[in-house]
Amino acid sequence: MANDVDTVSYDVRDGIAWLRFNRPDKRNAMSPTLNRAMMEALDELEFREDVGVLVLTGEGSAWTAGMDLKEYFRESEADGLKGVRRAQRESYGWWRRLRWFQKPTIAMVNGWCFGGGYGPLFACDLAFAADESKFGLSEINWGILPGGGATKVAVELLPFRKAMYHAMLGEPVDGKTAAEWGLVNESLPLAELEARVTEVAKKLLEKNPVALKATKDAVRRVGVMTYDEAEDYLVRAQEAANSYDATGRKEGIRQFIDEKSYKPGLGAYDKSRS
Ligand code: ACO
Repeated sequence: MANDVDTVSYDVRDGIAWLRFNRPDKRNAMSPTLNRAMMEALDELEFREDVGVLVLTGEGSAWTAGMDLKEYFRESEADGLKGVRRAQRESYGWWRRLRWFQKPTIAMVNGWCFGGGYGPLFACDLAFAADESKFGLSEINWGILPGGGATKVAVELLPFRKAMYHAMLGEPVDGKTAAEWGLVNESLPLAELEARVTEVAKKLLEKNPVALKATKDAVRRVGVMTYDEAEDYLVRAQEAANSYDATGRKEGIRQFIDEKSYKPGLGAYDKSRS
């Protein structure tokens, strides 16, 4: 099923929702209109039974060229603090929604990725880039600091010296460098990008979805906890997951120990039989 809402488009195929920044003429810059459309699209897709994985990508030569300097900054500012705060709420809102999305998420970075684009980049659980793509904290080049979480993303994902250089110099790096630095999982030629992302998405579709949501949240949560807090959180997170998925892990144990039909070290159990 396809649904084109101007600035955003998506379709769902074989369990994968392909969600796209869809302002190629403006290099997919995030305007308030686009930000609202993204929130609506996430709302529509999140709990659909035919969606097991969400891929966020861009139409044309950009993933996203960051915030729209005209519509997000200049025009919102013209409406005073009320306009500025509203625009911030709308963008940060969908990134937050994406960070804690019910289904696994993959950023498929096909081209330009600047500034505010680091918000949705970090919000996605995994990220794959084209070698040809370009990543940059370009804020310094037009006279602001990397806001909207972008500085935080750089510090979360990069070593201190690289984060500092990246933020202060505003020089773009290509997909391969982004992968070496840890901004994305992998970089590969654009022509191979979709096939690789599809392959990873299919592997995720084989896993227990309750366990996947618990796992992705745990990876994001434990970073700021002490060891003891993390230990406690993980016990409770698993026990909470059990209430949504009473048989999953028991079936996983059964297929390995009793049936000997798979090896957990090498792949997932057959969840269609739980
Ligand atoms: N905000 C508003 N409009 C934009 C943005 C943006 N971030 N990025 C591109 N556009 C528009 C251009 O103004 C142009 O519009 P026009 O056709 O009406 O003149 C159109 O998109 C195409 O842009 P070009 O610059 O012609 O495209 P090109 O492919 O040559 O370059 C590039 C692409 C490098 C991405 C360039 O557009 C650029 O530098 N964009 C700004 C990147 C940026 O710094 N973003 C802000 C980050 S900071 C933040 O997000 C808070």
